[in-house]
Amino acid sequence: MCGIVAVTGYKKALPLLINGLEKLEYRGYDSAGIAIINPDTNFISCNKAEGKLQNLKNNLNDHNLPGTVGIGHTRWATHGKPDFKNAHPHTDSSGNIAVVQNGIIENFQDLKNKLEEEGIIFNSDTDTEVIPHLIQRELNTLSKLNLENNGSTLLVAVRNVLSDLEGSYALAVLWSGAPNSLVVARRQAPLIIGLGEGEFICASDTPAIANFTNIILPMEDEEIALLTPLGIEIYDSNNERQYRNPVSLKVSEQIMDKMNFKHYMLKEIFDQPQTAKNWLENYLIKNSDNGQYQINYPFDTEFFKSIERIEIIACGTSKHAAMVGSFLLEQFSGIPTNVFYASEFRYSPPPLLPNTLTIGVTQSGETADTIAAIDMEIKRRSSIENEKFKPNLIAITNRKESSIGRQVLNIIDICAGIEVGVAATKTFFAQLLSFYGLAIKFAQIKGNQSSDEIGKLINELIKLPPLLEDLLDKHNKSSEKLAHDFFNIKDVIFLGRGINYPIALEGALKLKEISYIHAAGYPAGEMKHGPIALLDKKVPVISIASPGEVFDKVISNAQEAKARDSYLIGIAPECNGTEIFDYLMKVPSSNEWISPLLNILPLQLLSYHIAAHRGLDVDQPRNLAKSVTVE
Ligand code: M6R
Repeated sequence: MCGIVAVTGYKKALPLLINGLEKLEYRGYDSAGIAIINPDTNFISCNKAEGKLQNLKNNLNDHNLPGTVGIGHTRWATHGKPDFKNAHPHTDSSGNIAVVQNGIIENFQDLKNKLEEEGIIFNSDTDTEVIPHLIQRELNTLSKLNLENNGSTLLVAVRNVLSDLEGSYALAVLWSGAPNSLVVARRQAPLIIGLGEGEFICASDTPAIANFTNIILPMEDEEIALLTPLGIEIYDSNNERQYRNPVSLKVSEQIMDKMNFKHYMLKEIFDQPQTAKNWLENYLIKNSDNGQYQINYPFDTEFFKSIERIEIIACGTSKHAAMVGSFLLEQFSGIPTNVFYASEFRYSPPPLLPNTLTIGVTQSGETADTIAAIDMEIKRRSSIENEKFKPNLIAITNRKESSIGRQVLNIIDICAGIEVGVAATKTFFAQLLSFYGLAIKFAQIKGNQSSDEIGKLINELIKLPPLLEDLLDKHNKSSEKLAHDFFNIKDVIFLGRGINYPIALEGALKLKEISYIHAAGYPAGEMKHGPIALLDKKVPVISIASPGEVFDKVISNAQEAKARDSYLIGIAPECNGTEIFDYLMKVPSSNEWISPLLNILPLQLLSYHIAAHRGLDVDQPRNLAKSVTVE
């Protein structure tokens, strides 16, 4: 997964490209590069640097690149090491064609072998480099037909090449033979065109174009487009010209501001009270006739009535939110629910059962495994001629204009605003809220829960924002202090049970992904079946102990860890039993159902402060990227 940006128009391309890449760096930061057409010579000038965008910016300091047509790339390495030679843009042998690509060309090795047999010398280990060579070969063939050197010829050449590519991609192509033109195309990877006045900027995500325009044309899957300063031509995979109206970006899709926080992650942790307020405002509606609250999701009641079971598909943090969701849907609303890793579901789906709701959870809406798993489920259900097996789908996402937004009609928009930190925080919180909404909706419609219990849960949700503010205030400083004592540890164990088991998993994921400390989450009762062998005084245990069904059990499991000399940190309200903890990160007393929404905040803060204390790049941890658009 990578970020691409491309521009053609009358303004200097370089600042637009750099600005766009700055906003896309969350997608990958192994290397960065740009290519711009020189308006005097029509030569393509390529500049690349290993590592972060800043290295490229430093290199470009002395360069005056007056061109107005260019492409840029920020890379997350898939094929080939994250080094200079593999940085994009990649060019053909003559340097007349430059390409940036986000995706994976699955048959690149076959294509590369053939090109090498024809005498082409490759300069990188990437899958992408086959593309400029293939385009060059195609342009040579087209030149024999006496086609003019212009954008339309480039369009034909790129289209012909795309038909030989397998896999997914979003790409942008420059050719010195058509110096004002850009050709862009996408298959299963995002691409959006921003419309300025006589200028167009095309990018993998909205923030890259938000400084330039708020009018966009999202490209559909398998489309290809020719962009010149005079206009855009979009074609579908059948080569039919497409006409559609542009749409406006929402303000929340444009804002990327760290405010006064040191890192985006910390700012996003502190955004969570507002995330809760937004969700309550958007989705909790009081019925003026009976004073009861309803969940304002955009699907009719009939949709829910026929559902007998639920399957949820997600990756990473989204899967942890789905696990809390599954607990709520089964235990609160009485609907049998299973959660699957998208990457596993794709190749070993469960047998088809009737009247099943499939929920895809993905903050970015672009995770390749999740998109492919949902696609597979749509296809296998649609192939059965029985109404009961038809696909019933909901997607929970922060980016309703994303691939999943186009794939699934019923969207729950988590409305968390853009999340820049690679570690998901506020979007996890908003995904959790979306599941509370679904659980309430199902409970109301199916009648598996008393209206009193439903009312209690809703009241707890309404009380959340000030509690969250208070929690953040209290724990920011104390977790910074705790981080000071723990920043050098090697292993941490997170324990939780029931609805808080996924919170233990999420706490461990947060810590390892940003601090590179080994951390593992377990259901507290499982410790004695193996993981307890890991414990000694060097391995602290963080135990989530929320009063309710399993509180005493969690405390007993914590005792077992203490007996092995582990330092015990509790995430719990102060109450009988919590004296056992060496350090208590106090959370307010709450109904057990609601406890994950409170328990996750101190865990996020602790991970953040440990990583910050270690001097690590919290917002852009090594080897990761915000959305994983490759399998
Ligand atoms: O965009 P998605 O929610 O589909 O992303 C899924 C995972 O890649 C993501 O949650 C990942 O685990 C994050 N780095 C977690 O902080």
